[in-house]
Amino acid sequence: MTKYFIQFVQSHEEFRLPELESLAKIENVKISYNREDYKKNCPFLIIEIDTEEEAIRLVKRAILIRNIYELWGTGKSYEEVHTRVKAKPERWPPYNYKSFKFTVSAFGSTCSSDYQVGIINTFAYLGFKGEINLKDPEVQFGVLEDYGLDPAPPTEPYMIYFGRLIASGNRDLIQTYNLKKRKYIGNTSMDAELSLIMANQALAAPGKLIYDPFVGTGSFLLTCAQFGSFTMGSDIDGRQIRGKTNRSIKSNVEQYHLRGKVLDTFVFDICHHPWRDNLWFDAIVTDPPYGVRAGAKTLGRKNPSKRSLTTKLIDGTPAYEEENSYPPTKPYEMSEVLSDLLEFAARFLVLGGRLVYWLPTVVDEYSNSDLPEHPSMRLISNSEQNFGQWARRLITMEKFKENIIGDRANIHNVKGLDNLSFVYKKKDVSPNEEEITNTKGKKKPGHYLFREKVGLVEI
Ligand SMILES: C[S@@+](CC[C@H](N)C(=O)[O-])C[C@H]1O[C@@H](n2cnc3c(N)ncnc32)[C@H](O)[C@@H]1O
Repeated sequence: MTKYFIQFVQSHEEFRLPELESLAKIENVKISYNREDYKKNCPFLIIEIDTEEEAIRLVKRAILIRNIYELWGTGKSYEEVHTRVKAKPERWPPYNYKSFKFTVSAFGSTCSSDYQVGIINTFAYLGFKGEINLKDPEVQFGVLEDYGLDPAPPTEPYMIYFGRLIASGNRDLIQTYNLKKRKYIGNTSMDAELSLIMANQALAAPGKLIYDPFVGTGSFLLTCAQFGSFTMGSDIDGRQIRGKTNRSIKSNVEQYHLRGKVLDTFVFDICHHPWRDNLWFDAIVTDPPYGVRAGAKTLGRKNPSKRSLTTKLIDGTPAYEEENSYPPTKPYEMSEVLSDLLEFAARFLVLGGRLVYWLPTVVDEYSNSDLPEHPSMRLISNSEQNFGQWARRLITMEKFKENIIGDRANIHNVKGLDNLSFVYKKKDVSPNEEEITNTKGKKKPGHYLFREKVGLVEI
């Protein structure tokens, strides 16, 4: 195996390794790295890969990887770096007569152009005779210094990496799918970067069928289709899907030239879905409604006793047959949404299929044991995006075992008790000890009564 080093973007740090692992799986590339070498406060990671062709494939659709370099030398000082570069002179000849470019950059610090030129000159012993071409070189070398993220950077870098640039990730896609440029968006449309990361987590690829049961304005249909999958979605609220004249999921599909990949969208309540029992989705990618912007609803009445015993007629026709008639809906508690989602995934995913979804949590109360579980689904990754008091976690699960009819999701015994959440008013009542433990005295998960805890209450 050959040593490379990855330069990640310095954001979404908890998402970087899961994305790397997903990319390796999608591209069937064997990678090896020391888990202890990965630091959230550092963008560099040394990794071993068999061939250069595989290294290029590994990063070609990466969102959180800027570049991958073949590692020529690393060390805490330039002396160490040069010793390592000089130890393998057989690497140099292929580049002797190629046009080339050197770059020098510092993570956590800045370096003047004089300093950069000085560093570049220390590599003169490589003896490259090709022309220097800053715009379109045949080969590019990078010197990357790591000064860490302390407010006062050290005078010398903690580590220096030197290598030949092999390939870059696909961060341009973030601009392509930028919500500001998208024809149709809603207030819950997912930002482009995260939607693309989710498509990678879902292992979206040609020939796969990916489904979003809470499709809204269809962000994931687009990004999963971008990577070649067929996609479909559904939502209880047809207005989200239809949008307004010339601005709808359909117009977005046209905008991104994804016709033929985004198959269709449907309007129905996921609790009363029409799918036949079969294993057919390769992935489910979704942002369930949890009330920060759009609360979940399911068909039914909040108070069934108010249900009229006779069918309401309008001019002799049942009211529900009117074009503008909508069936009544009632709140759909978050833990109920989650258990239904896991059970749906266990039933409808192919073996090895992935469920990728967001789980909102109250930061101070979250613990890993809060994660919903299902006997057929195993956890692949759990990455936090923190907003202070609350966070959302991108959960990736894989169906690893056939679903047995009757197997239930484990939402820590909160199922059925959660409708409690709708008796509170505004922020004046915070859940008490009794309410955050279940009937068996076990602590309820941090997302229990989530809306109340962050001040979002349905009355
Ligand atoms: C957070 S939004 C999804 C936004 C979407 N990812 C996007 O990019 O626009 C959640 C969606 O779930 C829908 N929803 C709520 N309850 C539902 C149910 N019982 N069945 C299906 N969809 C539901 C809402 O109408 C809303 O559009």
